[in-house]
Amino acid sequence: MKIEELNINDHYGEIGEVLNDEQKKRGLLIYAFQQIQKEYNYLPEDKLEGLSKKLNIPLAEVYSTASFYKHFYFKPRGRNIVCVCMGTACHVRGASKALKSLEEEFGVKEGETTPDQSLTLETVGCVGCCGLAPVVTVNEEVIGEVSARKVGEIIEQVKKGKGNGNNRG
Ligand code: FES
Repeated sequence: MKIEELNINDHYGEIGEVLNDEQKKRGLLIYAFQQIQKEYNYLPEDKLEGLSKKLNIPLAEVYSTASFYKHFYFKPRGRNIVCVCMGTACHVRGASKALKSLEEEFGVKEGETTPDQSLTLETVGCVGCCGLAPVVTVNEEVIGEVSARKVGEIIEQVKKGKGNGNNRG
């Protein structure tokens, strides 16, 4: 998405008639964040600065709006997002072991991305499949009853680049 081409009168249809320019600009921010993240997989600083200038919204406000939403990221993310559920059921059933193995194998801690950006390792409170605990997700795929063998398969999958990298939009 080219920030220069953003037009505050697009994207609103009929409702645009009842919004003032300020409201339209703020609404457009979210659309722009989505488009930027789709393209870059996160929100690069220079793009947010460009948005701030284009829409004449202070940069601090641009950041605070983006950080309100949990799904916008400010650091590059990996082509594969491996997420270990650390909710109670998964924790009790050994999720920490899976997390430790993944951390050791890829040399990253939870929340970090490998230098080659092949993987971002994350944790989550509960993915809603407690009956399958412990659970790990790889991109959109939910893997249940994660044993040491399954952790090995996840590692292979990421190393062979089999992860579909669908977080790239
Ligand atoms: S605690 Fe892991 S799926 Fe619910």
